[in-house]
Amino acid sequence: MPLSVVILAAGRGQRMNSDLPKVLQPLAGEALLQHVIRTARAMDAAHIYVVYGHGGVEVQNAFAHEPVEWVLQADQLGTGHAVMQAMCVIPDDHVVLVLYGDVPLIRASCLKKLVDAAGRGALALLTVSLDEASGYGRIVRNADGQVTGIVEHREATSEQLLIQEANSGLMAAPAGRLRDWLLGLGRNNAQREYYLTDVVEGAVQAGDEVAAIPVPTAVEVLGVNDRIQLAQAEAAHRRLRTEELMLAGATLADPARVDVRGVVTVERDVFIDVNAVLIGQVHLCARVKVGPNCLIRDSRIGADTEINANCVIEGAIIAENCRIGPFARLRPDTILARDVHIGNFVEVKKSHIGPGSKANHLSYIGDAAIGGGVNVGAGTITCNYDGANKWPTIIEDGVFIGSGSMLVAPLRIGAGATIGAGSTITEDAAAGKLTLTRARQTTVDGWSRPRKADDEDGTAAQGSSDRAGE
Ligand code: UD1
Ligand code: CA
Repeated sequence: MPLSVVILAAGRGQRMNSDLPKVLQPLAGEALLQHVIRTARAMDAAHIYVVYGHGGVEVQNAFAHEPVEWVLQADQLGTGHAVMQAMCVIPDDHVVLVLYGDVPLIRASCLKKLVDAAGRGALALLTVSLDEASGYGRIVRNADGQVTGIVEHREATSEQLLIQEANSGLMAAPAGRLRDWLLGLGRNNAQREYYLTDVVEGAVQAGDEVAAIPVPTAVEVLGVNDRIQLAQAEAAHRRLRTEELMLAGATLADPARVDVRGVVTVERDVFIDVNAVLIGQVHLCARVKVGPNCLIRDSRIGADTEINANCVIEGAIIAENCRIGPFARLRPDTILARDVHIGNFVEVKKSHIGPGSKANHLSYIGDAAIGGGVNVGAGTITCNYDGANKWPTIIEDGVFIGSGSMLVAPLRIGAGATIGAGSTITEDAAAGKLTLTRARQTTVDGWSRPRKADDEDGTAAQGSSDRAGE
């Protein structure tokens, strides 16, 4: 049966005490709702509907890039009312899966079980066993153990409050049946709301199957209502993601000190030291080593490459067996071939560096194409910007650039050329030759250092006439 996902996100989120709508609060660097939409997309849904209300336009703009359809719930009259708003556009032969915009850690594998049960015609409830179920609706069963209803916390008897089987709120059902049960909802309860949970009674009365499916790990259904729960969700997210990395073959010096904010994949025998922050699409090939305090965003790191402490790497593709850092910065569109060394305080932007080339100290390489076996001396700068435009620097194979060179682009340095240290190169340099632009060293005889004007008998005036060049 085709699947329609309905994500409830119309609530105000008052307990956040924030100007930002709750579903836009960041978890692992992305909005809460982004996590839920990603999971919904992993379910191969025909449609994903987001029921919105508070913070409407702001929320819609934040997800303009996502293939979701927006359903307005102008007045927040309860979870049942929210689902009713979406039902007008969902055909009877779909399965409806209800998710919450503020329950971000749910996994597709768990939702699949709900959808399968609903596909068989059941109302499938995702439940969670909690020692302390305060605030949650409780699953009520009859003497035969069959589910007969869900009672909300504030409406539960003291006996029912002892029930540890709680309602996660997430559920799936065949759309046609759900529509019938929803017709039976009223607002005769403590909050004068249409409770989605009351569809259970409707299903029981109609003789439909109600399946209570326990969630494998309780954190998956952790709801975020305040910033304490947001921090708990952040820690839980970190744990889930770092466990995936470890199972895939990475050793983490301390899983509590690695943040995964995006889709990070690793191969075997990767090592990640403390305080790594991995953002966006990151892939670490076999045996990559990441030193302490590194940020890596949207990059691919080749096998056996070592990234030393305190590097920032964004939008880079790095081949095998490179040595990066400590304290290196690789900016977007950096492509390094194998065996490249980028050392401390070297910044590389939008440049291609060929195999075995080295820039080991204090350099800026921008808009450059560097061949193989090149040595870029300490303090070399590609002067790529004239204040209006960016220009390329081409350095061919086997070039040696002496320390402290300014390479004023556009520029080509021919294969095997040597640039003398301290040169400012403004024109193409010939292949295989030494090029340098350097004032000859001179020594000035008879010069003495100026003295301080510290007395009143005229020696100060004399001191100034000693200045070199006068
Ligand atoms: C709901 C369940 C409860 C369950 C709990 C789990 C009902 C009646 N109760 O309670 O059994 O244990 O979730 O967290 O369903 N929303 C709307 N429109 C509305 C009301 C809510 O879109 O009119 C959205 C909220 O933004 C939120 C979700 O629905 O994402 C749940 O609403 P909330 O008020 O937090 O439900 P609870 O009272 O906690
Ligand atoms: Ca409520």
